[in-house]
Amino acid sequence: MKKIWTIVLAFLVLTSVAWAHSGVKNASVKARMDAMGEIGLNTKIIGRMAKGQEAFDASLARAAAAAIADYAMQTPKLFQVNETDPKSEALPAIWESYDDFVSKSDALGQLAIELSSSIQAIDDLGPAMARLGGACKACHTQYRR
Ligand code: HEC
Repeated sequence: MKKIWTIVLAFLVLTSVAWAHSGVKNASVKARMDAMGEIGLNTKIIGRMAKGQEAFDASLARAAAAAIADYAMQTPKLFQVNETDPKSEALPAIWESYDDFVSKSDALGQLAIELSSSIQAIDDLGPAMARLGGACKACHTQYRR
């Protein structure tokens, strides 16, 4: 379990370099990438606490989970129209299986809502990261280049 979120964290560190979004011309694409970026940053907050790189703070961890839930709930709307941009990593499969894409957004949203009230101790963070990582991966493997 620990392995999954370590990989997720490594992915976030690597991709954060590319988060400038400078070359994105389509405003709708930029908005959805920004939302994903926020999900990434908030996941990183929980991940850093889980690893002991940041002091454990239950209310900060819960707030990060609540922010992830917020952006996850916005995800279906942000991706509703098939907008494109050369910088986008979104796959056309999103709009071929939009209902499934929505259910994967909802799955992350529900999980993050649960975590926003259930995280109490530092030991809760490892399992939380494993579950979050699973929810990101479930969508990214199918819908992200
Ligand atoms: C329902 C599908 C879905 C879920 C769930 C999901 N993502 Fe994404 N994510 C995408 C898609 C699609 C893109 C590519 C968007 C684009 O480039 O237009 C993306 C892009 C990203 C990016 C790159 C953003 C950028 O600036 O280019 C990051 C970081 C990211 N996701 C993090 C996460 C994390 C962390 C999670 C889990 C906590 C997560 N995502 C869950 C669909 C999802």
